[in-house]
Amino acid sequence: MKEFKTLITEVTNGILIITINREDKLNALNKALINELDEAITELYDNAEIKGAIITGKGNKAFAAGADIAEFKGLTEEDGKALAKRGHVVFNKIEMSPKPVIAAVNGFALGGGCELAMACHLRIASENAKFGQPEVKLGLIPGYGGTQRLTQIIGKGKALELLMTADTIDATCAGKLGLVNEVVQTVELLDTCKSLINKITSYSPIAITNVIQSVYAHFKDGIDGFDTEISLFGKCIATEDFSEGINAFLEKRKPSFKGK
Ligand code: COA
Repeated sequence: MKEFKTLITEVTNGILIITINREDKLNALNKALINELDEAITELYDNAEIKGAIITGKGNKAFAAGADIAEFKGLTEEDGKALAKRGHVVFNKIEMSPKPVIAAVNGFALGGGCELAMACHLRIASENAKFGQPEVKLGLIPGYGGTQRLTQIIGKGKALELLMTADTIDATCAGKLGLVNEVVQTVELLDTCKSLINKITSYSPIAITNVIQSVYAHFKDGIDGFDTEISLFGKCIATEDFSEGINAFLEKRKPSFKGK
């Protein structure tokens, strides 16, 4: 895999680990980083050897402390729209990845950092993680999908509260709100994420892709998620993996899924 400047990437046992590598700036997401993240996610889509991804931040202080505020100075309205649009494209690509993506949130996940975590399918947080959408403090609103995904994940009432107060919440509170799936000790964060993704990728990759597509169909305008589910259920039935799944069950053995 190519070398990046703002990311460290490694593939271990078929899992792509993407580490945001701007520790001195608390892993703030600048334009170059968003472009490199796009490339890394394209690799996740295209490389058949890669079964899933974990995104985390370098160091023990931040997952990502937001979009890079230093790049905001002097922007016009059109620049602002273009910046937001670019973030949307990349974060939508993460969300619609056919392979599972887990955020290993190891510290501050503020603004764009919280939005990045929310674009992942699952979020595991270390005990020191902190979450928030502090954009209003800057006279701004979230621009990488935060107003939508936060509302989808924790509901309108709590989303409005976090967005309007700009409050930062700790990992325990994020767990109670359902913003994160699990809170673990900092030293166990990556191992927990690896076990989780190994479990998910041990199942039929077609079934996992179809779960992702079917769940996200709920949030797509003009699409009936129930119809999507019926259609994708049918597609699963027609796969070799489904035959293998039922044969393995009846023969009382572990299935060996091929993704076909
Ligand atoms: N964009 C650009 N640089 C950032 C950044 C961001 N979102 N967040 C942190 N940094 C930089 C700081 O400017 C500082 O750089 P410097 O050492 O060159 O001065 C470095 O990262 C360390 O941050 P610092 O503020 O000194 O750390 P802290 O422990 O005192 O505070 C935070 C941590 C997260 C509370 C604070 O950095 C912060 O509020 N960041 C901005 C969060 C935000 O508003 N995000 C949404 C952006 S839309």
